[in-house]
Amino acid sequence: MTLMRDADLAEAFDHAAPGYDRLVGLNAGYHADLRRSARRLRLPGGGAGLHILDIGCGTGASTAALLRAAPLARITAVDASAGMLERAAVKRWPAGVTFVHSPVERLAAAGVTGPFDAVFAGYLFRNVADPDAVLAAVHSALRPGGRLAVHEYSLSGSAGHRALWSAVCRAVIIPAGTVTGDRDLYRYLHRSVLEFDTVPAFAARLDATGFKDVRALPVPGWQTGIVHTFLGRRAQPGPGYRKTGSR
Ligand SMILES: C[S@@+](CC[C@H](N)C(=O)[O-])C[C@H]1O[C@@H](n2cnc3c(N)ncnc32)[C@H](O)[C@@H]1O
Repeated sequence: MTLMRDADLAEAFDHAAPGYDRLVGLNAGYHADLRRSARRLRLPGGGAGLHILDIGCGTGASTAALLRAAPLARITAVDASAGMLERAAVKRWPAGVTFVHSPVERLAAAGVTGPFDAVFAGYLFRNVADPDAVLAAVHSALRPGGRLAVHEYSLSGSAGHRALWSAVCRAVIIPAGTVTGDRDLYRYLHRSVLEFDTVPAFAARLDATGFKDVRALPVPGWQTGIVHTFLGRRAQPGPGYRKTGSR
């Protein structure tokens, strides 16, 4: 997987932050698709009493999608880019939403500890150097039965979807990013999607980490076959389970 170094990537997102919301707003499905993935977590009771972790929250688009799906939940939203978080912080949020500046690889050091009822990752996993390590950390941060939704550019594996992604990047995304001075970041976006796991490969990573009921669902519109919601949950202990120390 070709990655920018972590520090370079955080810096590239710092630079892109002022224009980020405007740029993603050009993609008609961006917010609706995030909301769809958040709804797919099927959080009960409007999220009352639940604590959700939003990793790679950026300027808060995924956080807002989670709030729409679970308006009563407590949400901890984490990002490695101070610039993206600054943009998130100036928006209006209910008291239960907290933003934390930290790489997802160092959540415990930042005081972000579970157990969480759900974890959401919107367009994060392509960017992390060791997705298996991050998935394992997320799995242990979930309470038993807790749910994961990963909303990601992950190609279906068909040549047509791969070609469509490249065509859209060359015709629209990279030229638009060039106007805001972020050409390298959007070239990286193009490349990172081509190099990231296809749907079966990422689903296999979730299985291998121990997630149960792993599924990948498409989104509608031009991103069908390009963006997917991956769902999984941490296993519930079996009937014979007894907590250590419990009687
Ligand atoms: C494409 S943006 C998506 C932001 C938001 N989730 C959304 O859906 O609009 C990816 C975000 O992940 C963050 N990111 C990338 N690598 C990260 C890491 N290792 N730890 C935490 N955040 C990271 C970037 O700073 C950026 O804000």
